[in-house]
Amino acid sequence: MRKILIIYAHPIENKSRVNKQLIKAVSEMENVTINNLYESYPDFYINVKYEQGLLLKHDVIIWHHPLYWYSAPALLKEWFDLVLEHGFAYGKEGTALIGKMALNCITTGGRESTYQSGGMNRFTVKQFLLPFDQSAYLCKMQYLPPYVIHGVHLLNNNDVADEIYAYKKMISFLRDELFDVNAFMKGDSLNQLMSQIKSDN
Ligand SMILES: Cc1cc2nc3c(=O)[nH]c(=O)nc-3n(C[C@H](O)[C@H](O)[C@H](O)COP(=O)(O)O)c2cc1C
Repeated sequence: MRKILIIYAHPIENKSRVNKQLIKAVSEMENVTINNLYESYPDFYINVKYEQGLLLKHDVIIWHHPLYWYSAPALLKEWFDLVLEHGFAYGKEGTALIGKMALNCITTGGRESTYQSGGMNRFTVKQFLLPFDQSAYLCKMQYLPPYVIHGVHLLNNNDVADEIYAYKKMISFLRDELFDVNAFMKGDSLNQLMSQIKSDN
């Protein structure tokens, strides 16, 4: 069983409708650790050694956040700047993250149809996440396609319940090594892989 670390960044969690429920749903799962950055560091003073220790103890690192200005909320960027130090995460002596898996789990306000060439947002979410992809690559991690829930403001309560079910399933598949991610590295999102599995069964 892989150990999963979800690094969660949502600056206004009391107003969150979707992410709050997704995180709650997976927080009780075996071998899943939730690291709620805004709860731990409301003043932005990140405990770097503690965060590095957490990374060492896990096999899969998930950056889970709403899409904010086509990127991540500010504290997650601060986490990258401070925690992924030279000599720890990259460089000659920086071998701590080699071989670990990494991916982003994202919610967007914009509909999926807007995230494509010719659409209002012009690029896919995967394309917007290139700095994450390259950072993981520099640290010799295996960066997977993102898991994306689009258009969250359009979801009714039943849709949200379906998304929670699907998210839990995706996390358990990752944890229990139930899909061959190597065969899917070029996909736009892990959601596609999950729906492929659903239709195969
Ligand atoms: C400051 C800010 C920036 C945002 N930027 C984007 C964006 O670039 N693209 C997008 O699709 N949605 C954007 N949104 C919408 C959020 O992604 C959306 O509200 C969030 O995913 C909802 O999740 P929640 O219910 O957990 O809060 C933004 C929202 C805020 C408050």
